[in-house]
Amino acid sequence: MALLLLSVLVLLTQPPRSRGAEVTILPQKHLIDACTLVMCSPVENGLPGRDGRDGRDGPRGEKGDPGSPGAPGPRGMPGPAGPVGPKGDNGPAGEPGPKGDLGPRGEVGAPGMQGSAGTRGLPGIKGDKGAPGERGAPGSAGAAGPAGPLGPQGPPGARGPPGLKGDRGAPGERGAKGESGLPDIAALRRQVEALQGQVGRLQGAFLQCKKVELFPNGRGVGQKVFKSAGFEKTFQEAEQVCTQAGGQLPSPRSAAENEALQHLLEAENKGAAFLSMTDSQTEGRFTYPGGEPLVYSNWAPGEPNNDRGNENCVEIFTNGKWNDKSCGEKRLVICEF
Ligand code: GAL
Ligand code: CA
Repeated sequence: MALLLLSVLVLLTQPPRSRGAEVTILPQKHLIDACTLVMCSPVENGLPGRDGRDGRDGPRGEKGDPGSPGAPGPRGMPGPAGPVGPKGDNGPAGEPGPKGDLGPRGEVGAPGMQGSAGTRGLPGIKGDKGAPGERGAPGSAGAAGPAGPLGPQGPPGARGPPGLKGDRGAPGERGAKGESGLPDIAALRRQVEALQGQVGRLQGAFLQCKKVELFPNGRGVGQKVFKSAGFEKTFQEAEQVCTQAGGQLPSPRSAAENEALQHLLEAENKGAAFLSMTDSQTEGRFTYPGGEPLVYSNWAPGEPNNDRGNENCVEIFTNGKWNDKSCGEKRLVICEF
């Protein structure tokens, strides 16, 4: 049966000219129809049958295998632009720019203050020794010796004694002057002038400071300065105040110093101030803090009287007079510097 079907299939797929004229050429779709294959029989076995009517549609075939993937379709139109994304990070720093042009020239500044004079320079290096003088000229030839006595012509006389030594040659030329080891005089003069100016300015500044310092409760006399603390203390406390300030209680050693102290006391409008001296060591023998006896005094009449046996300190009144007084009393503190 399979062989029969195969033969029919071969015949039907041959071109039309290879078969008999009586064979009806059917549309190709009918030739491969399974029903046609079963109903037909070989040509040599009988007359051709009538055309078969169109058969009914066969049952729906099984779902075929999925086809091979088709060719990619044409590229679609670009979609609409999306929303603006967030700002990106800063890029890396660029290369430094070229150097700018020179700015306009500034105003000339005011001249600076004069600097202080420099310290004295080191002495100059000692100069080299001068070159030796030239050798002196040779001395002149010595005088000829005395002639021998006249006699018969004999053999030539003996050679006379050598002449006197010639004078010393003239001294050679002075060698070139070596450099002086002393500093340059002109430079020294400039240094001195600069120092004089500096000292003058310092003196002016010092005097100004002194005036300020003495106003209104100080008095200067010679190298001394008396200055009021403005408050009253016992002798021991007053002594401590002045020592801590770098001074001491007043020790007037002359009328001038005593008057300066008196005037300060008057200006401070206080009745009395302590002096430095005491007779604590030996009653009746007043001494300065270093232990020396007084070189000057201005006791009030009848003083010192060591009243009640308890007056070892000294006070000065506004009239400049002194009185021995108890050290436990409180008096204006004036210090001496
Ligand atoms: C007092 C004084 C005493 C003593 C007395 C003499 O005022 O404090 O030291 O000098 O006077 O009258
Ligand atoms: Ca007294």
